[in-house]
Amino acid sequence: MINLHSNLRNIDGVLHFGGRNMSEIAEKYGTPLYVMDEQTIRANCRTYVRAMKKYFGESSYPCYASKACCFKDIYRIIGSEGMSADCVSCGEIYTAKSAGFDMSKIHFHSNSKNDYDINYAIDAGVGYFVVDNLEELFALNDIAGKRNIRQKILLRLTPGIDTHTYEAVRTGNVDSKFGFPIETGAAQKAVKKALACENIELKGYHCHIGSQLFDSDVFIRAADIMIEFTCKMRDKFNYIAEEIDLGGGYGVRYHESDPIIDIENNIRLVADRFHKKCRTMNITPPAVILEPGRSIVADAGITLYTVGNVKRIEGYKNYVAVDGGMGDNPRNLFYGSTYSVLSVENLNKPATFLCDLVGRFCESGDVVTPNISLPEDVKRGDKVAVLTTGAYNFSMSSNYNRYPRPAVIMIDGDTDRISVRQETIEDIISRDN
Ligand code: LLP
Repeated sequence: MINLHSNLRNIDGVLHFGGRNMSEIAEKYGTPLYVMDEQTIRANCRTYVRAMKKYFGESSYPCYASKACCFKDIYRIIGSEGMSADCVSCGEIYTAKSAGFDMSKIHFHSNSKNDYDINYAIDAGVGYFVVDNLEELFALNDIAGKRNIRQKILLRLTPGIDTHTYEAVRTGNVDSKFGFPIETGAAQKAVKKALACENIELKGYHCHIGSQLFDSDVFIRAADIMIEFTCKMRDKFNYIAEEIDLGGGYGVRYHESDPIIDIENNIRLVADRFHKKCRTMNITPPAVILEPGRSIVADAGITLYTVGNVKRIEGYKNYVAVDGGMGDNPRNLFYGSTYSVLSVENLNKPATFLCDLVGRFCESGDVVTPNISLPEDVKRGDKVAVLTTGAYNFSMSSNYNRYPRPAVIMIDGDTDRISVRQETIEDIISRDN
C-alpha cells in the first residue's frame, strides 16, 4: 500500500484509518462519507503549539484557519489543544461560539466586512479584527465608538511576495485583492490612520502569502519584510508592533511523490531567522502568529465512496464513477488538484486498472481525480477511499444538482461519532417557499 500518512494501514487487504476498519465504517454509516481522525487533528495542533512556543517564544501561538474545515466538533478539539482560530465570516464565528470556543481567541478576517458583520463580530466578542482596507478601519472605529469599546486589530499587509503555487491561492503579491500593499505606501498610510483612530488598538500586522507551500524560504522572506516594516513604523511613528502574523500555508502530501514537510523544523528555521533579523534591526521580537489550516486537518480526513459503474471505452479511457463528486470535493474542478485513491477492501490486489475517478454530478468536469489505478476487477458496490480530504472538501461542499452533503464521522481510538449528520433532501428544500 502507498506510504502517505502514518494513520493509514493495510490489515489483511482492508484499509484502516486512525486504527479503524474503513469497510465497517462505510457499512455502518453509508457512503459517500467524510471520515476524520481526532487523534491526527490533535497531533497536528500539538506540533504547532509546542514548536511555536519553543522557537518563537511563550507569547507566540497558532491560529487555526477555520476555512479549511469548519464544524462545531473541530472547535472543541482545537480549543482543547490551546489553539486560537481565524474566522472569515459570521457563519464561522457562529459555529465557533456555538461550540463554546473562547471568543477572545478568534481573529476575524475577510476583505469585505459590512456593518452587519462588524456588529455581529463585536457582539460575539471576537478578540481581533484583521483589518483589510481603510473603509473597514473607519467603519470599525465608528461602530466601536458607538458601542464604547476599543477594538484590537491587526492590519493585513501584502508583502509583495510571489509564491510558486497555483493562481487561486496566491495572496501575498502586490496586486492581490487582500490587504494594504507595503510597496505602494498604502500600508504605512494605514498604520498612521489606525494609530489616529480613537477606538482602535493596533496590535500589529498580518500577512498571508499563499497555500500548499513546501518551502520555508517564502515565510523567511515574509518575516524579513514584516520586521523591516515594523522598524520603519517605529522610526516614523514611534509605534512598535507587539504581534506579527505570518499567515498559513504549509503544504501537505496528497501523493507519495510530494515532499515530506517537517513542520517543527520549518518553524525553527523561520524563528531563527526572525530573531536574528530582530537583533540586527535592534527591535524586541514581537510575538508571532501562524494560521495553519490545511496542515491541521488535511491528513486527518478521507472520503469513502461506493462505485456505481465502471465504463471501459475501448481504445480511449476508463472511468470509475462513484456516489459523490464535485459536490463533496470540487478541488479538481477548481484547481486541478489530484488525490491518492485506494480500494478499501482490496488493498492486496495489484492496482493495475488505469482510470479517472469521476462523480455522479451532471457535468463532464465532475472529476474527483484523474489517472488513478484500482484493481483490475473493480466493480459496482466496491468501496474506494480518497485520501487527504480533510481540508477544503467539507468546507467547500455544495448542493449542486440538489445532492445532500455527506455526513462527517469523527473517529477517536475505539469510538466513532457523528460530527455532522448527513444532509437530507428535506434539508435542501427547507428554505424553498
Ligand atoms: N490565513 C489566511 C489569511 C488565509 O487566507 C488562509 C487560506 C489560511 C490562513 C490558511 O492557509 P492553509 O494553511 O490552509 O494553506 N480552497 C483552497 C485553499 C484556499 C486557501 C485560502 N486561504 C484549496 O482548496 O486548496
